[in-house]
Amino acid sequence: MKKIIIILSSIIVIIFIILMIFLFNTDSKDKDIDNIKEKKPTENIPLEEDNKFSKLSYYKKENLDRYKAYQDNNKDLSIEDIVTRVNLNLDKEFYTDTIPATNLNTNYLFVNKFNYLDSNYIPNNLELLDNSYAKSGIYLVKEAKDNIEKLISDAKNDGMNIRVISAYRSYTYQENLYNNYVKSDGVEMADTYSARAGYSEHQTGLVVDVTRAFDDFNNFENTNEYNWMLENAHNYGFILRYPKNKEKITTYSFEAWHYRYVGIELAQKIKASSLTFDEYYARYLESDNN
Ligand code: DAL
Ligand code: ZN
Repeated sequence: MKKIIIILSSIIVIIFIILMIFLFNTDSKDKDIDNIKEKKPTENIPLEEDNKFSKLSYYKKENLDRYKAYQDNNKDLSIEDIVTRVNLNLDKEFYTDTIPATNLNTNYLFVNKFNYLDSNYIPNNLELLDNSYAKSGIYLVKEAKDNIEKLISDAKNDGMNIRVISAYRSYTYQENLYNNYVKSDGVEMADTYSARAGYSEHQTGLVVDVTRAFDDFNNFENTNEYNWMLENAHNYGFILRYPKNKEKITTYSFEAWHYRYVGIELAQKIKASSLTFDEYYARYLESDNN
């Protein structure tokens, strides 16, 4: 009997020891987890200064140093403008760090001095405009064509005489055009009003240059047709692409005649925002569609 009691007591002691070891281990593991949890908040806390940029939905972490540098050189600009302009690469030389344009064959295809089209890019659904709306041999993407024809007809009912003098241009056509401008005005001047081949919006097939009754496009700003376009073009899906006083953003001189088709809904939103297409793209379209 004494033997049995000793064996039972030994078993109870062993079970007790095993239990204690198990409990001790669990407790120390929990402590480890607690330590990790406690440590976490002290890691990578953004500085207060960083947050003023990062609260924007179009903030890009990798551009933070550039936002700061751009702000140092442009103290009058809002946080929104700084982030937008740096995202557009406006802190860089034109035609550097260029990338192929995305969203090909969509109405929000974005082309500028940093986003280019391949020399082989020809938009789908190009159609010839009727001679009653345009000079002969002018092509546009079908949706843009239907809407510019409607615009011109409605404008006519208001006594306006709007005509298209240029629309889709191939890579090669733009190359010759730009090279001729360079010959007559030099590269620096040509770059203020003409795009290099591959960088022209005209290659998208979504652009029209309009005039009053085939007059000189340089005179368009002084016509009633120009004012009619400012008031109505967005309701047909077109926006003024290179507005006055936005040269630093668009990188081009004001072009009263150059309208870009983006679709009616988007054109109305861009018009209401008073932003250029570049700014609207950087803030609201780039992250959604890439
Ligand atoms: N004139 C515009 C900027 C173009 O050449 O596409
Ligand atoms: Zn144009």
